[in-house]
Amino acid sequence: MESPFKPDILRGKVALLTGGGSGIGFELSTQFGKHGASIAIMGRRKNVIHDAVSVLQSLGIPAVGFEGDVRKPEDARRVVEATVEKFGKLDILVNAAAGNFLVPAEDLSPNGFKTVMDIDSVGTFTMCHQALKYLKKGGPGKDSSTGGFILNISATLHYTASWYQIHVSAAKAAVDALTRNLALEWGTDHDIRVNGIAPGPIGDTTGMSKLLPKEINDGGYETMPLYKVGEKWDIAMAAIYLASVAGYKRNDPHC
Ligand code: HXC
Repeated sequence: MESPFKPDILRGKVALLTGGGSGIGFELSTQFGKHGASIAIMGRRKNVIHDAVSVLQSLGIPAVGFEGDVRKPEDARRVVEATVEKFGKLDILVNAAAGNFLVPAEDLSPNGFKTVMDIDSVGTFTMCHQALKYLKKGGPGKDSSTGGFILNISATLHYTASWYQIHVSAAKAAVDALTRNLALEWGTDHDIRVNGIAPGPIGDTTGMSKLLPKEINDGGYETMPLYKVGEKWDIAMAAIYLASVAGYKRNDPHC
């Protein structure tokens, strides 16, 4: 499909994406890169990062990969700093790393619950916290007129309730709360735009193959209003809009 955006709409931007080597995260890495951004990917699996960076580079996208776990503050700091060292600044942080498995609440250990909270919620906050000094207006490598952008990838599981997803529902609800609170505080104080996207079921992702029944993964979409699930491309285009100069610019009341 052809992008509705100008191919250079993210030209000159530097983006760091956790979980950017697979699933929705990789589609975002690819589309951000195709629209002009330089891409840094952070993930736990060395081979996944390596393969993803190779694909991006084969498309002519300036790309680098860093092994790291968002649960470890020292990894978060190291990867943020390495990104700035490589590309000179940081404009965009995408938090797409997530952990998930189906388990009934009564069989889920507190540590299993905590593990997903640590990846999705605490990991998102940790990355935002480490990136703040680079994303804020006037931060290293940035001009003094505009701050950066944070995009948190959430889900819709917690809007009602979802079978065997108590840990992920709690974690994604926390991510949504982080998004709103950082948008308020860091939008006001630092001109950093903080947005979230909450995808429903998206085809060709680990989340979908792990979580949804086999008949849906096999294409049984009769019960769905549009007779399809979402596509990674849909999420990427929404993300480009939000990341671009078109998305929610701040008005300066003093101008
Ligand atoms: C029950 C489990 C479990 C399972 C792990 N645990 N897997 N409990 N059922 N299947 C428990 C363990 O018993 C342990 O608790 C604790 O969790 C930590 O387990 P580890 O294996 O040591 O953790 P770790 O190696 O760090 O792995 C964490 C992980 C992660 C969350 C399991 O590796 C993972 O799931 N990766 C897959 C990523 C993924 O699926 N991404 C897609 C996200 S999709 P105890 O008490 O035994 O010590 C998404 C979108 C959702 O988020 C929306 C879709 C519609």
